[in-house]
Amino acid sequence: MVGDILAENRYDASTGILRFTAPEVASFYDQQKEWTTYFAGSRASHGLAGDTIEDPEELRVLTAYFAWAAWAAAAHIPGTTHSYTNNFPYDPAMGNGPSGEAILWIATAYVGGGLFLASAIGRREPKGQARATNVLFVALAIVVFGSLAGEYLGVRRLLGDVWFWFGNQGWEYLEIGRAWQILLTLEASDFVGLMRSGTDPDGNKVPFPHRWTFYFLIAVGVWNFIGAGIFGFLINLPVVSYYEVGTQLTPNHGHGALMGVFGMLAVALTVFALRQVSTDSMWQKTEKLVKVSFWGLNIGLAGMLILQLFPMGVAQLADVIRNGYWHARSPAFTESALGTIFGWARLPADIIFILFGVLPLLAATVLTYLWARKPPAESGVQ
Ligand code: HEM
Repeated sequence: MVGDILAENRYDASTGILRFTAPEVASFYDQQKEWTTYFAGSRASHGLAGDTIEDPEELRVLTAYFAWAAWAAAAHIPGTTHSYTNNFPYDPAMGNGPSGEAILWIATAYVGGGLFLASAIGRREPKGQARATNVLFVALAIVVFGSLAGEYLGVRRLLGDVWFWFGNQGWEYLEIGRAWQILLTLEASDFVGLMRSGTDPDGNKVPFPHRWTFYFLIAVGVWNFIGAGIFGFLINLPVVSYYEVGTQLTPNHGHGALMGVFGMLAVALTVFALRQVSTDSMWQKTEKLVKVSFWGLNIGLAGMLILQLFPMGVAQLADVIRNGYWHARSPAFTESALGTIFGWARLPADIIFILFGVLPLLAATVLTYLWARKPPAESGVQ
């Protein structure tokens, strides 16, 4: 049985040599061809530009790395009945299953309270604040566009030796260059300083004009509960994670938690700023856009989870258990009829999110900016 061949550990620690059986050797050469087509083919593979890796030596070394990883996932550690990866990934055909050593642990529920704006914001504007804000804005724009350009150039191998600083840092996940990161940290501390300098130390009571900021903060609380709390917890047990990791249940949680919590928080802060720099008459117009955006973003996000991410995640998990992890992660599943149906089913939600969520907010922001440029007819928030 294939499983037995792969489970036997033929690594000799005294010589440092790992011996492959004849089928493994044949498979290695097959794989080399496979990855050459995948990475060096001029027809782009999914998500990759064509001709990503062309050097035959690099392709050989990469295949060797894959072979080594596959070996470590299947070969038993001497004297045990499980592999170096605790038998991950799941593959019933090969006899890989949870090692039984997985410890079930229950984490404390993460139910964060939403941020609450306790005190009214002061109307006093410290000297030089506008200037400081502009400097910060330009600095932020430099980081955003600079890092974006750096990532692109880095991936295209156009940055020479400085890719780590200005491209990406070469981690498994995409990370902005180290220089951008340092700049961003400095800017964040400047921002905190700015926020502080704008607060009324007396905490005087003023009418509360920030209704929509408040609603967005409620959305933060709701998504914190659903996206992070329920869907995060759902996949958090090691034994669930063993089968589920990297299926659609991960972006199901990721969308609900990341857009739901921090995305809505960012929008809350944006809306807060919009209201703060608007006169009452300006706000009467923009408020409608913000209202549409609130419902567009929330309904759109919920739709993405309900129409695709969650049901497809469950179907994919079932496929892992039925056919093995490799199958559920391959185009055989993701491009199957089911995968395609879920992909299309989600489209209305994406459209709602963009048309009724993103665009009205963008319009509100641009309009507020343009109006705020004009000399104010009346003072700011009343
Ligand atoms: C606001 C809070 C949270 C945010 C923004 C967040 C965001 C994310 C994102 C974006 C991912 C995907 C990462 C990737 O695949 O590269 C992820 C993965 C994960 N999160 Fe969260 N998360 C939050 C809270 C939680 C909580 C409370 C739990 C558990 C109780 C949790 C458990 C997990 C697990 C287990 C994964 C890995 C899933 C997998 O790959 O199978 N998260 N999270």
